[in-house]
Amino acid sequence: MAILPIRIWGDPVLHEPAQPVETITDDIRALVHDMFDTMIAAPGVGLAAPQVGVPLQLYVYSYARDGAPAWRGVVINPELWMIPTEIGELHAETESEGCLSFPGVKYPIRRSHRVHVTGLDLDGNNVAIDIAGWRARIMQHEFDHLNGIVYINRLTEPYHSEATRVAAREGWGVPGLSWIPD
Ligand code: NI
Repeated sequence: MAILPIRIWGDPVLHEPAQPVETITDDIRALVHDMFDTMIAAPGVGLAAPQVGVPLQLYVYSYARDGAPAWRGVVINPELWMIPTEIGELHAETESEGCLSFPGVKYPIRRSHRVHVTGLDLDGNNVAIDIAGWRARIMQHEFDHLNGIVYINRLTEPYHSEATRVAAREGWGVPGLSWIPD
């Protein structure tokens, strides 16, 4: 088990597209196990490889609710389709999300209600995920990371300005910053 440092907003790896995984090697399997440990320790509901400094197209997710078994997994080289987002005012309580690479704050952002995700699992088998609601939000957030997009990039006003102030106050927005979950 290893907890990996999580890169913070401003580190270049977070802001550049990740590369496809060519071969699922032992190194990739070890990375995924460490990413699960890191995500759970953080704690978070998703973690993309660029967030631990690895510019590859894969992410892990884990979501538990109401005592049900956790919905968790890994998607390698994902593709994502979504139904169009709805127009209308954002609801801070039900539409706010956070990011381990921009820790300590949450902001509302409109996401699609339903997505279809395809890719590979750790054994190289095809996976297809049809999911709605909060779990669809997780898929969109993590998929964005693989394209160099942090949700902060998608915020509307006044939230984008608030986030910009937080980053300035914390000294983020420069290369090389990270934090390690306890
Ligand atoms: Ni994130």
